Amino acid sequence: MEKLKKIAGVRAAQYVKNGMTVGLGTGSTAYYFVEEIGRRIQEEGLQIAGVTTSSRTTAQAQELGIPLKSIDEVDYVDVTVDGADEVDPHFNGIKGGGGALLMEKVVGIQTKDYIWVVDESKMVDTLGAFKLPVEVVQYGAERLFREFEKKGYKPSFREHDGLRFVTDMKNFIIDLDLGAIPDPLAFGNMLDHQVGVVEHGLFTGMADRVIVAGQDGVRILEAHR
Ligand code: 5RP
Repeated sequence: MEKLKKIAGVRAAQYVKNGMTVGLGTGSTAYYFVEEIGRRIQEEGLQIAGVTTSSRTTAQAQELGIPLKSIDEVDYVDVTVDGADEVDPHFNGIKGGGGALLMEKVVGIQTKDYIWVVDESKMVDTLGAFKLPVEVVQYGAERLFREFEKKGYKPSFREHDGLRFVTDMKNFIIDLDLGAIPDPLAFGNMLDHQVGVVEHGLFTGMADRVIVAGQDGVRILEAHR
């Protein structure tokens, strides 16, 4: 699996050209993309500015000598490469398994060419087997949790080392065990209207391309909109 992640991540780096502002995703697949960008900067003199999607990726990029800008310093991002936890045939995805969904979405919506890199196990017919991450403000999080419970969403607070996981933006994550999400757009819209929800891991109508690495090679799926 690690090999496939690396193939997808490295392949995606081909979309990066001199002078671009580049969104650097988070997770074990995006890791290889960031690593390849670092290599090209060192070995080929590639000139780009990176915009990171988490403190973890910031640390990796700094270590590799990738020049960085904050998202507020740029009008748009030329290309972003990020991972995904599940992708359906309509280019809808679940993201946030690594807890970075808020920053990832902020960077993603400002990106002209938004690319996901996945191994083939992430491709599904219907989203929802992967627990949907919902980022919520800490204040009143218990109330939201009970609301989700009442609705039958089987929520659980994300934990790390036995403590509640706190995101880079200082929020909690509640993961919803939905099983299937037949209408991701509608479900995402509903979550958008819950007071206390900052953002959720349903990324609908955003990805322009998905690079899928599988045992039989690499497929590049393009969204036509
Ligand atoms: C982090 C994410 C990741 O992109 C997603 O979880 C996929 O990660 P990985 O490539 O490690 O499977 O959304 O918040």
